[in-house]
Amino acid sequence: MHNLARPAPWNAAARQDDKATRYAELTAELGALLAGEPDPIANAANAVAAIYHSLDGLNWAGFYFLRGNELVLGPFQGRPACVRIALGKGVCGTAAAQRRSVLVPDVEAFPGHIACDAASRSELVIPLLGSSGLLGVLDLDSPVLARFDETDRAGCEALAAVVVRHLDRSVLT
Ligand code: SME
Repeated sequence: MHNLARPAPWNAAARQDDKATRYAELTAELGALLAGEPDPIANAANAVAAIYHSLDGLNWAGFYFLRGNELVLGPFQGRPACVRIALGKGVCGTAAAQRRSVLVPDVEAFPGHIACDAASRSELVIPLLGSSGLLGVLDLDSPVLARFDETDRAGCEALAAVVVRHLDRSVLT
C-alpha cells in the first residue's frame, strides 16, 4: 500500500515533485494497482483511469488492442473515439506498425493524423510490446500544443511496460 500521508498520484490535487519523480512514483503505484488481478479488461480500465487522472492537460487517454491487422478501441477516458485503426494509419497505427513510441507536438503537422476529438492538439502513442509481439498501443491526447516532451515519452514507456507485464499473462484475443 502507498503511504497515506502522500496521496496516490491519481488522487493528488497538486503535486510539486519534478516530472520524472512523479512518473517513477506513478509507475510504482500502477504496479500495485494492477497486482493480483488477472482480468485484462479490468486492468486496462484501471490503468487508463489512473493515468488520465494523474497527468495534467489530457483530453483523452486509452488503449487500442491489436485484432488481426487492425487496432480496436479498448478501455479509455475521454470522448467516444474511432473504433478501428489500420496498422500504419494515423499516429496510433504508425506507432503500432513501427513498434516505437511516436511523439507528435502538433497533430496538424502529422500527415494522416486521425482526428477523433477536434480538441486534440498534441499526442503521444506508446506501443505495447508483449513477449509474443505487439499487443496494442497506449494513446494520450492533449488539447495543448507540444504538451509532451522526452520526459513524458520515457515516463509513459515505463507505464506501458507495467501494463504489458500484467496483460501479457492474460488472454486478450
Ligand atoms: N489521433 C489518433 C486516433 C485515436 S484518437 O486520438 C483517440 C491517431 O491519429 O491515430
